[in-house]
Amino acid sequence: MRYAHIVGWGKSAPERILTNEDISTFVDTSDTWIRERSGIGQRHLAGSRDSTASLAIAAALEALDVANISPSQVGLIIVATSTPDYAFPSTACQVQDALGADSAGAFDLSAACSGFVYGLSMASDAIKAGSIEYALVIGAEVMTRVLDWKDRGTCVLFGDGAGAVVLQSSDQPGGVLSTILRADGSGGDMLFIRNNYREQPANIAEYDGASAGALPKIEDGKNIAPGYMYMNGREVFRFGVRILAGATREIIAKSGWEVDQIDLLIPHQANIRILESASKSLALPMERFYHNIEHYGNTSAASIPMAICDAVASGRLRPNHKVVMVGFGGGLTWAAAALEWGTPRVLNRANRTMNRVRLGLANVRSRARRVLRRVEDRVFGAIDVSAEPLAAPSPNGRNGAVTEAEPEVRR
Ligand code: UT7
Repeated sequence: MRYAHIVGWGKSAPERILTNEDISTFVDTSDTWIRERSGIGQRHLAGSRDSTASLAIAAALEALDVANISPSQVGLIIVATSTPDYAFPSTACQVQDALGADSAGAFDLSAACSGFVYGLSMASDAIKAGSIEYALVIGAEVMTRVLDWKDRGTCVLFGDGAGAVVLQSSDQPGGVLSTILRADGSGGDMLFIRNNYREQPANIAEYDGASAGALPKIEDGKNIAPGYMYMNGREVFRFGVRILAGATREIIAKSGWEVDQIDLLIPHQANIRILESASKSLALPMERFYHNIEHYGNTSAASIPMAICDAVASGRLRPNHKVVMVGFGGGLTWAAAALEWGTPRVLNRANRTMNRVRLGLANVRSRARRVLRRVEDRVFGAIDVSAEPLAAPSPNGRNGAVTEAEPEVRR
């Protein structure tokens, strides 16, 4: 029988910190209100050089170091994110390329704040089925890029960062023991980021470059501009309270545990009051709940893997601990996992150095492949097509063939 153990973990947060006081200089709020109503003291803010991919890559590299493996051993990369740099290529492909993980499949997973636990479930199932030996599961977000900084109800809550774990196949019992995945799409209007596609022309026949700017806005009653987040805080709060306690009960029943056997509950870091309410409901003391929301705010899919890293570093997460993780958020979605924490790996400095060298080589190889593709294009590109290519509409009104060099995918 195969088991899936977490053997590596890493996190990354942008350098710049935005305190509650900083926010109170441009919206009508205060440090006292934010701390009392959410438990948040500060959050990290992505700078111009940060992206979802760059944060994910840094966290993944750290996780590979702890796991003491090379990128080429990874068979699957899943990045849970609601704020990918591109619709495609996926963030996971950007991570694969940067690391030089040449044996890995890679895809992004969209399940909002539940995404990391969804990914953990997918990857551990793939390992238990014997399909792969190692998987990288990452949660990465630049939430501050989708916030309306005039909306005090949401802008004070979110932050940026990434967390990653390496899962390893083993015949030793333990690791990810059981998971549950759930969704209720009827609550989709409580929390969402609408993208631009709905406002783009429906098809080529309707497209008229000159009138593109006058296309009617999709009415959702909330006047949220595409690309920005909307949240009904009170309703999502109630949902969080109900799910955190309910999903915990369900996952421990599935694992054959009792509530008081949980050594550490690592929930999605949405609001400290949601944790306090679940603590009462489950009769599980707050000391068994891990929280670092005071330092990072709500980092959506990144919050649980970042909390894992901090829990290990502070000695709160130790070998043989029975651990429950619960994610909940947009979709609506929720997910829980029960696991027995394995033996921590000792950091191998030689492998760490080698992984940095491999990173450099991956970069060179990626560039070489791009150049090679361009050369191939020049040599073999003059394919004779008798029919005119179908002219695709583009958002800036250019109709048809690409005339300029397309920009390189940037991390
Ligand atoms: O990751 C996805 C999951 N997300 C969550 O779980 C978030 C869930 N929701 C929450 O955490 C909370 O609902 C909030 C922190 C967003 C809001 O806390 P609340 O206790 O539910 O406040 P409220 O929305 O009921 O608002 C209470 C008052 C209102 O004023 P009035 O109408 O009573 O005069 C708000 O306008 O607080 C006001 N308010 C603020 N005041 C100062 C709302 N936001 C702020 C603010 N600063 N930032």
